[in-house]
Amino acid sequence: MKNIIAPSVLSADFGNLARDIEMLNASECTWLHLDIMDGVFVPNLSFGFPVVERIAAVARKPMDAHLMIVNPDNYIERFAKLGVEYLTVHIEACTHLNRTIAAIHDCGMKAGVALNPHTNVSLLEDVLGDIDLALIMSVNPGFGGQKFIPGSVAKVRKMRKMIADSGSKCLIEIDGGVGEDNVAMLAEAGVDAFVAGSSVFCSKDPLKTISFMANA
Ligand code: DX5
Ligand code: ZN
Repeated sequence: MKNIIAPSVLSADFGNLARDIEMLNASECTWLHLDIMDGVFVPNLSFGFPVVERIAAVARKPMDAHLMIVNPDNYIERFAKLGVEYLTVHIEACTHLNRTIAAIHDCGMKAGVALNPHTNVSLLEDVLGDIDLALIMSVNPGFGGQKFIPGSVAKVRKMRKMIADSGSKCLIEIDGGVGEDNVAMLAEAGVDAFVAGSSVFCSKDPLKTISFMANA
């Protein structure tokens, strides 16, 4: 089976956004990954609803939105209206995670929960039956182009075992420093979905890079 590749639009050329989204439409990627940053949860700003709306107008693949923001509950409905399929919130930003997951499902989206590099995967144990995606951050969130944190591999293996033991159908996604050099190793460890920003958009041949990663 092919790996799910989710190129991060954060690394696209925003002056030629439609062109870059068309490139992803024509590629072997499965999802488009949208990194939403608020300058509070992470020390950076990215883009908001007007840009997501333009991406949605051109995209022919499901949108996978990764909210690196505080108070994500305030925006769930608007992301649903824009056609987002997977909405992922950070466990570190949610005081009432169970309620947030239910609100995402109530709006017709699939629910993901992201863990920062310091957050133990065991914290997801009691919600595994309720979520569709567990996102393991393999860099500290906020910026593209950072180096993969090696300890993330052990977290993937632990998460894979937890999912198998629980009978959950939850997918494992990894985000940060992922590219052609580590995709096969991560697939073997149990990753289902791979976010790739700079490795795709800084590649001389993004279509080839996506194809390599999808079939690794
Ligand atoms: C980091 C974001 C990532 C990032 C990945 O805060 O969540 O999605 O854009 O970029 P690369 O693949 O360049 O590490
Ligand atoms: Zn991301």
